[in-house]
Amino acid sequence: MEKRIAICPGSFDPITKGHLDIIRRAATLFDEVIVLIMVNYTKANTAFTAAERVEMARRVTSDIPNVRVDYYAGLLADYARQQGACTLVKGLRAVTDFEYEFQMALTNKKLYPSLETLFLTTDIQYMYLSSSVVRQVASFGGDISEFVCPELLEDIQKRLAPASGALPNA
Ligand code: PNS
Repeated sequence: MEKRIAICPGSFDPITKGHLDIIRRAATLFDEVIVLIMVNYTKANTAFTAAERVEMARRVTSDIPNVRVDYYAGLLADYARQQGACTLVKGLRAVTDFEYEFQMALTNKKLYPSLETLFLTTDIQYMYLSSSVVRQVASFGGDISEFVCPELLEDIQKRLAPASGALPNA
């Protein structure tokens, strides 16, 4: 039987515990899951380079045998077609996510009609969580240990925490 391949796409800048929860759950539903680090047209300046985001995603998913991490700077629909993927898996935190995600799902379906988008509801403990929350809290020197995996904590803090404790532009 043909392998059922799903893609979890995103900017992952950086990958959070909420992302990892969705990836783990997707890995139980599909034969193979590709965590795909991509370019979000509306988020031009990422805090972490593509190579760093890939490396972090690899580190936190290394214990999940049917997950691999990749990077693609083009259209998601083209990548999905190349890989023979049948489904995109995305997490939905709240109604506010829906409009944006719905638009992307319909666009991807238009570009690659046999590609489905599957929305998994976020675990309630991660409803508030996003990469931008991580970046913001860390850049003011706040505690992000609840938000990101322990193996990434130091690297993320080192990169984002204010060196002197002073607020940016204060
Ligand atoms: O984590 P994000 O930033 O919400 O993920 C959005 C992402 C990267 C999946 C989206 O911007 C994307 O698919 N980028 C690749 C370009 C593409 O295919 N765009 C068409 C879909 S609107």
